[in-house]
Amino acid sequence: MPDQPSILITAGPTHEPIDAVRFIGNRSSGRVGIELAEEAARRGWPVTLLLGPVGRVPTTADGVRLNRFRTCADLQSLLRRHAPEHDVFVAAAAVADFRPKVDPAQFAGKFRRTGGPLTLELEPTPDLLAEVAASRRPGQFIVGFALEPRADVLNSSRAKLERKRIDMVIGNPLETMDSDSIEPTLITTSRGPVSPGSLSKAQFAAWLIDQISHELHLRGRGANTPSTSGH
Ligand code: CTP
Repeated sequence: MPDQPSILITAGPTHEPIDAVRFIGNRSSGRVGIELAEEAARRGWPVTLLLGPVGRVPTTADGVRLNRFRTCADLQSLLRRHAPEHDVFVAAAAVADFRPKVDPAQFAGKFRRTGGPLTLELEPTPDLLAEVAASRRPGQFIVGFALEPRADVLNSSRAKLERKRIDMVIGNPLETMDSDSIEPTLITTSRGPVSPGSLSKAQFAAWLIDQISHELHLRGRGANTPSTSGH
């Protein structure tokens, strides 16, 4: 049996600067990614967690290598460095799809009140998940998330699986953000949808690591530890 698979996980929001003190962000707490990192580490998997700007004290679980990011650009350079070293990549971060297109000199200062309106131009960010998938080495297993209105979860997850050329998508209704529970719908290139119902984020982490282990076994790259999940 080979060594345990190594796993790279992103978690939390990005903060895209408007000026030196303001940013565009989102309500992601990072909890799903942190729980996943802790669960994988408990099973003896080598874990790297790339964690965005969240208030919660980051994990200190043994076996979790932690790196912090703030912006999509920070995360892009961390991924370019770390993605090639890992067997599994799970993109749980809520990365901004658009960021303010501002003169970098503005980052040193602050927008001032002028009495008139202020218009911010936004530019698209690079799709980091698709970028990692495009440069993956053979055998790397890649998981993405799709946060969507409930009625669109399945269709949107299928579209993301194809468009980003990844192996698994976990679809979630929008209410998952900021909530204590999660209602995942899993699809892979060959199976699904699988919907285990409403799970706490810790239960979800154990369930998802089981699902990833199962897929790795199907591909001839197994994990050594038995499941710890009740699902
Ligand atoms: N993601 C990413 N880079 C981005 C935006 C998103 O890697 N710039 C990843 C997220 O971590 C998540 C997945 O892509 O795993 C889906 O993100 P989402 O924003 O829902 O999808 P997009 O396809 O980027 O955009 P849209 O919602 O418009 O389909």
